[in-house]
Amino acid sequence: MEKNNYPLEIRDVEPEKAEILMKYFTGEHTGFVRVGPKGYILPYMFKYEAFKIYTMEIRPTDVFVVSYPRSGTTWTQELVWMVANDMDYETANKIPLTKRYSFLEFSTIPFVDSLFNSMKVEDIAMLPAPRFIKSHLPLSLLPPTLLDTTKVVYVARDPRDVVVSFFHHNKLKRFTGEDAELKSYWNYFIKSEVIWTPYFSHVLEAWEKRSHPNMLFLFYEELFKDMPAAIRRVAKFLGKEVTSEQVAKLNEHLDFKNFKKNKMVNLEEFQESGIFTKGPGFVRKGKVGGWRDDFDEEMTEQAEKWIAENLRGTDFRFPNL
Ligand code: A3P
Repeated sequence: MEKNNYPLEIRDVEPEKAEILMKYFTGEHTGFVRVGPKGYILPYMFKYEAFKIYTMEIRPTDVFVVSYPRSGTTWTQELVWMVANDMDYETANKIPLTKRYSFLEFSTIPFVDSLFNSMKVEDIAMLPAPRFIKSHLPLSLLPPTLLDTTKVVYVARDPRDVVVSFFHHNKLKRFTGEDAELKSYWNYFIKSEVIWTPYFSHVLEAWEKRSHPNMLFLFYEELFKDMPAAIRRVAKFLGKEVTSEQVAKLNEHLDFKNFKKNKMVNLEEFQESGIFTKGPGFVRKGKVGGWRDDFDEEMTEQAEKWIAENLRGTDFRFPNL
């Protein structure tokens, strides 16, 4: 496929709008694009990587974790990696998850890229098997051969918890300015002006594929409520046998209090080096329904309406609603 055969339209966000967005999302210096019929909003740099990502060769040995950010991606990655690697604690306790799992579109986030010197798409494409790949891109922007070739675990979370978590995370990374408030952030989010939105299109694309044998659709809320059952689901999906002892041990390893202090997953080094601000940390609160502490009445009502409108005509429901 020729580069100019990229099948989706990539439009620059109009200059006036881009200027407003860049004033708010101060970490983004190059602007934004909207991609495809759903109009996913992504950093401008995505333009240069879109084709490489779309045409990347997928191998049957790859294991993907895909999500909208702050949906429990890291938690799911560690869970999947542990099961896929026969509970190899020795490696998991020695090598950071960011080195065990590649973030596919990391290089499209210029602010992050300059700080982390992240892997390029072409580097990820060349990695030896088995590749463990994380992406926040919706399925329609990933290679079309993905699901028919290899396993994909998708994780979704109540968007109200997602938005609170993403807001704090963006502050941590200085992606938003100091004075950004949750309420304004929430308004950008529901107008689909926060990167990787529209949120519901993202989730629903994966939900529609949930019966595909190569797709495992998980909810954060489900991991939270019954991790041992989730471990068993993942094991079955990956064709692995797990004993009760292994499940119990992994459950403990993935438990919030242990996860938060696990240096191989908590990105503490970014805080120590000053890349992250001294905030609540990457592994932050770890609650279901924590948004209730942060939403005012107006946001709560808006959210109810927004969720209902987006779920109308679909059979998608969050487990906790
Ligand atoms: P909060 O900010 O609400 O605490 P992602 O990895 O997709 O960025 O998701 C991050 C969210 O998952 C954060 O949510 C984080 O605290 C939560 N999380 C990470 N590990 C967890 C664990 N072991 N148990 C519960 N929540 C966890």
